[in-house]
Amino acid sequence: MRLLCALAFGSLLLPLSAYANDPSSYAQPDQVRMTHLDLDLKIDFPHKRLDGQATLTLDWKDPKAPLLVLDTRDLGIVGVDAISADGNATPLPYAVSRRDKELGSKLSISAPRHPARVRISYSTSPKASGLQWLSPAQTADHKQPFMFSQSEAINARSWVPLQDSPAIRFTYDAHVSAPKGIRVVMSALNDAKHPLNGDFRFDQPHPIPSYLLAIAAGDIAVRKTGPRSAVYAEPSVVGKAAHEFEDTEKMIDTAEALYGPYRWGRYDLLVLPPSFPFGGMENPDMTFATPTIIVGDKSLVSVISHELAHSWSGNLVTSADWRDIWLNEGFTTYVQGRITEALYGERQANEEILLSARALQKSIDKMPPNAQKLAPDPRSVGADDALSDVAYDKGSWFLRTLEQKFGRSHFDAYLKGYFDHFAWHSITTEQMLAYLKPNLIDKYPGKMSWDDVKAWVYGTGLPKDAALPDSPRFDAIDRERNAFLAGTLPAKKLDAKRWNTQEWLYFLDRLPDAPRLALMQQMDAAWHLTGTPNAEIGMRWYSHAIAAGDKAVWPAAARHMTRIGRLYLTIPLYKALVKTPAGLAFAEQVYAKAKAGYHPLTQQVVESVLAAAKAAHR
Ligand code: BES
Ligand code: ZN
Repeated sequence: MRLLCALAFGSLLLPLSAYANDPSSYAQPDQVRMTHLDLDLKIDFPHKRLDGQATLTLDWKDPKAPLLVLDTRDLGIVGVDAISADGNATPLPYAVSRRDKELGSKLSISAPRHPARVRISYSTSPKASGLQWLSPAQTADHKQPFMFSQSEAINARSWVPLQDSPAIRFTYDAHVSAPKGIRVVMSALNDAKHPLNGDFRFDQPHPIPSYLLAIAAGDIAVRKTGPRSAVYAEPSVVGKAAHEFEDTEKMIDTAEALYGPYRWGRYDLLVLPPSFPFGGMENPDMTFATPTIIVGDKSLVSVISHELAHSWSGNLVTSADWRDIWLNEGFTTYVQGRITEALYGERQANEEILLSARALQKSIDKMPPNAQKLAPDPRSVGADDALSDVAYDKGSWFLRTLEQKFGRSHFDAYLKGYFDHFAWHSITTEQMLAYLKPNLIDKYPGKMSWDDVKAWVYGTGLPKDAALPDSPRFDAIDRERNAFLAGTLPAKKLDAKRWNTQEWLYFLDRLPDAPRLALMQQMDAAWHLTGTPNAEIGMRWYSHAIAAGDKAVWPAAARHMTRIGRLYLTIPLYKALVKTPAGLAFAEQVYAKAKAGYHPLTQQVVESVLAAAKAAHR
């Protein structure tokens, strides 16, 4: 699975009647909606804590609503006040419900007089699921501590009490205090010249859903990459990062030419320490990114095309429910491909499409039927379960199929119109379909039937009309791999000197699940894959070598797993190791050492992999 193979925390089956809205949130948006958030926070590194106040501006919908219900997780609530127009505070009664493992704790505030603003004073837990706190020793430059948030899917509630549902959008501003010498950034406009005086202010004038709320702080330097883009990173990383991401401005221009103006002002990038659990996160104005994509040859910068693409698909037009997340990730993966094609050519774009399509073809039939659907039966999957390869790769495959059937110029015009039509809104799959029918399917009759559209959106598996691009180079690699596996082509005779990153990934991806040990040893002797600086190659190589029983790679695999907390690159190695009792014992040793440097989300996923394996070996 491309991204979150590991984030299956078990399905979240909620009683339908309990929630009229998003089943992953306690909020009741038909009663009251937050329209603005005003944050006043202090970053307390020694205690790994944010302290302060969140003031919510409210739009009361139901005249009889007695309560304001908010999402929280592990927050220490100090007090709740109603704030009058002249700023006077009146305490409000409130109750924090018992913590639900997935949803956290409901905060019910009694507010029958419908105050225009409510202020919650609180502090976060050092174990907040949406924050990671790093000591100076855990950073690249060892000088200052570092902290960052990851709110998607439902972790904003662990650092701000709010209505934590993508259906609800709000503007925000923030005042953040930090130790002197620290730079604070947020998912809002950031000023590269801001003095590091411990006193930062932010303003996000566009309405965003809670999962796009973000903050980071540390020893962060800035390097300009264009008139409206810059790279933020630790001082020893920022130069390399600015070089790797020097095409950012061209990416923005390309996306604008296709889908209309970039509406967010600036597009900056923050390169995080390697413990960041994802490849990238599309926080508005400031994408957060893993340093594992900095390999020196720009071969992994599609992650940036992807996060930038979210400025249209996701941040501008958002899925209203996690069940509809393919509207974010599938559309974005499609747009990502278009940016890659325009900047790096068809060969690169087609190779990236084929890599994920082949992986999906291999995995989709093994998934539970409901998980194979772009729009699963409503309310039957949890926030994290909804984010699978299906959302990304089946979703983008559907859009490529539409493009192919209707022609690029018609489809491009359609998609631009779609983004304009739904701009700044959160929508469901059904709203998307209601727009698709008159504006594309019926407008150009005879190209695609409505039944075929429904098969893509509500059906299992992959429809027969799913088209794939050609890649003569991948075809050649298939032939070489087959000959190598058959023993007719020795490893050192492979044409691999000419392979780019994607071609290496393709060669490795399609090795058998447990290749013969002698073949893996031959491969390593010829191409020195153990210790590779490219973590995408490393993840695939170590997984296969471990599955083949090659213990010689264990120490290098352990270094990879300890250094990198990105789920997609690290969890597969735990999964490969825990298949045998000796591997499980080794994985437990690795985790004992790595744990302190992992993000809470990574800890949670590794622990569930280890627990499942222990139960299986018992
Ligand atoms: N929005 C996602 C990251 C995400 C999804 C975080 C769900 C938490 C829950 C982001 O845009 C993304 O898809 N990142 C990918 C990059 C990619 C597919 C090119 C990643 O992190 O690997
Ligand atoms: Zn994405």
